Amino acid sequence: MLHVDRIADLRAACERARAAGQRVGVVPTMGYLHDGHRSLIRAARGDTGFVVVTIFVNPLQFGANEDLDRYPRDLEGDLALCSAEGVDCVFAPSVAEMYPRPPATTVHVAGLTSDLCGAARPTHFDGVTTVVTKLFAIAGPCAAYFGRKDAQQLAVVTRLVDDLDLPVEIIGCPIVREGDGLAMSSRNAYLSPADRAAAPTLYRGLVRAVELIQAGERDPDQVTVSVRDAVAAEPRFTLEYAELRDAHDLAPAAALDGSLLLAVAAHIGGTRLIDNVHLRVDGDDVVADLGVRRDVKGAPAPA
Ligand code: PAJ
Repeated sequence: MLHVDRIADLRAACERARAAGQRVGVVPTMGYLHDGHRSLIRAARGDTGFVVVTIFVNPLQFGANEDLDRYPRDLEGDLALCSAEGVDCVFAPSVAEMYPRPPATTVHVAGLTSDLCGAARPTHFDGVTTVVTKLFAIAGPCAAYFGRKDAQQLAVVTRLVDDLDLPVEIIGCPIVREGDGLAMSSRNAYLSPADRAAAPTLYRGLVRAVELIQAGERDPDQVTVSVRDAVAAEPRFTLEYAELRDAHDLAPAAALDGSLLLAVAAHIGGTRLIDNVHLRVDGDDVVADLGVRRDVKGAPAPA
């Protein structure tokens, strides 16, 4: 496995791979890799000949009062995971390599970024789209793998690539959950044992809402109220939002019909957690994608 920290080296490695007839698969991450990241790597490994994992805690996407300084890091562990998964190249640049000076050019995706997570984190998505655009410019034509755990990020990056005709195919991958339903996240490392025990409340709130819809509920407000009530019932949580949106443009869902995203964000013990479920509703047919859940042996199974 190649381990590079220079932009020029990643660019050259991707060019070599394409010249040898391989498709390049890129998995952008901020490291501290877990089974959610691993699932993206496996998807990339299955589809492409040259798999690149990028590991970069991107300062641009953290707000002034956010957790940049304490964001968990473990480059050695990450390299071991990547090597075990058959990754071809890890790109782990320094901040100075990515931003030798504060960028005068940033990338903004209007509309899609203004609410949901963007409301509480107004500069976050510009940081994401700027770094992702840089990574795509360095890697060149590729397939890029993103988790549905960050559903708004996936929608924003998909729109970015479409608007700017970037030569990148965006692939969305299922949410990977712990055995008790908590969506995996590097930030779960912040949770105290008591907060960790309460954290699956978000997942259970989503499951309850899906059950309501499957039982015939078709009022969007009743669905979001049921998620809000579930979060309110756990005093450790403070709700940020629970919203039902169109899955593609993230506009508020006027009716429980079509392709929808039910998304929730809440704070527990100083940690911000997000979760969501994708729904396809067609008359009485309701298909919910809650992702995959690890069973006791650690193998993913449908959630
Ligand atoms: P990070 O939080 O490290 O996540 C990297 C990728 O892993 C994202 O696409 C995210 O959606 C996916 N992921 C995280 N947890 C997951 C889970 N439980 N199941 C499935 N996929 C999961 O997202 C970022 O980094 C950054 O914003 C980045 C895109 C790298 C730009 O800096």
